[in-house]
Amino acid sequence: MPGRPSSSRALPSSEPPPGPAVDFQHQTVLLHETVELLLPAEGRVILDGTLGGGGHTEALLARGATVVGVDRDPVALAAATARMGANARFQARQGNFADLPRVAHDLLPVDGVLVDLGVSSPQLDVAERGFSFMKDGPLDMRMGDSGQTAAELIASTDERDLAQLLRDYGEEPFARPIARELKKALPQRTLEAAEVVKRAVPRKAWPDRIHVATRTFQALRMAVNGELEALDALLAALPSLLKVGGRAAVISFHSLEDRKVKEAFRALVGGCTCPPGFPVCVCNSQGDFALVSKKAVAASEAEVEANPRSRSAHLRAVEKIR
Ligand SMILES: C[S@@+](CC[C@H](N)C(=O)[O-])C[C@H]1O[C@@H](n2cnc3c(N)ncnc32)[C@H](O)[C@@H]1O
Repeated sequence: MPGRPSSSRALPSSEPPPGPAVDFQHQTVLLHETVELLLPAEGRVILDGTLGGGGHTEALLARGATVVGVDRDPVALAAATARMGANARFQARQGNFADLPRVAHDLLPVDGVLVDLGVSSPQLDVAERGFSFMKDGPLDMRMGDSGQTAAELIASTDERDLAQLLRDYGEEPFARPIARELKKALPQRTLEAAEVVKRAVPRKAWPDRIHVATRTFQALRMAVNGELEALDALLAALPSLLKVGGRAAVISFHSLEDRKVKEAFRALVGGCTCPPGFPVCVCNSQGDFALVSKKAVAASEAEVEANPRSRSAHLRAVEKIR
């Protein structure tokens, strides 16, 4: 059962985050399902660790919650602030969700935490951000405004490690030849990198349904942004972020991410290991969390039709129960 709503809390005042305002169009995934799982209500404070265009946040605000949206991308923060900045129950903060214990230290513990992993459509669509193998731009791929670009990562990683990275993050079967060609060519532009991948993979082995460079670009993006490491840090921090009755919801788009979420949630929930028939539990292996739904929630057929990106979305949620 959810905890009682906390008393209504004014947000500490803050400067609007930096960054240019842009037209930011991102189609929110599993909107209704996510909002329902997070139990938004007046007085409940929710951290949206992947604010993006603010689609989830806006719906949570509409249900009366107070929402602090965190994103590492200043462009997303500026767009969300333009959309919802006038709402006194909303605040945007620049940061990494891996670092929520510090970024939101003044609000903890909270009633809800949401992360909707991956990139936003505007990040993919703007060629200069360097995420797309379909549009020419610098081979950048950083969601935020600091750290190594993808071109720098290729240059600074040796061939064997680069191949491992393509295997681990992209599940790329041609990791070795692609890494060899990338190290030879040291591409600086997205289309150049896509051509390198095309050269490295025999034509007859190109996948039917996706571009041959999809897995390589995904792996480079995940490495540049430390995506799995950020998820690990968030999952480890959940017990300290949530109050009793608080819920965490994670939307993932990749089997590696979903596996991490599933395993971390299972560990938080724990399980009694007392022999059957014991009248009371004495093993103390029961965790402080309960699963909100046994299986991952997937997008409906109608949503997949309207937004094909939702096809691979998995939503999982846990509640802190003691
Ligand atoms: C899929 S979009 C979120 C969309 C949002 N839920 C909506 O409905 O508009 C993911 C966002 O999370 C941000 N992001 C990804 N990883 C992050 C991290 N580790 N810390 C903070 N923001 C992150 C990206 O910059 C991007 O804006």
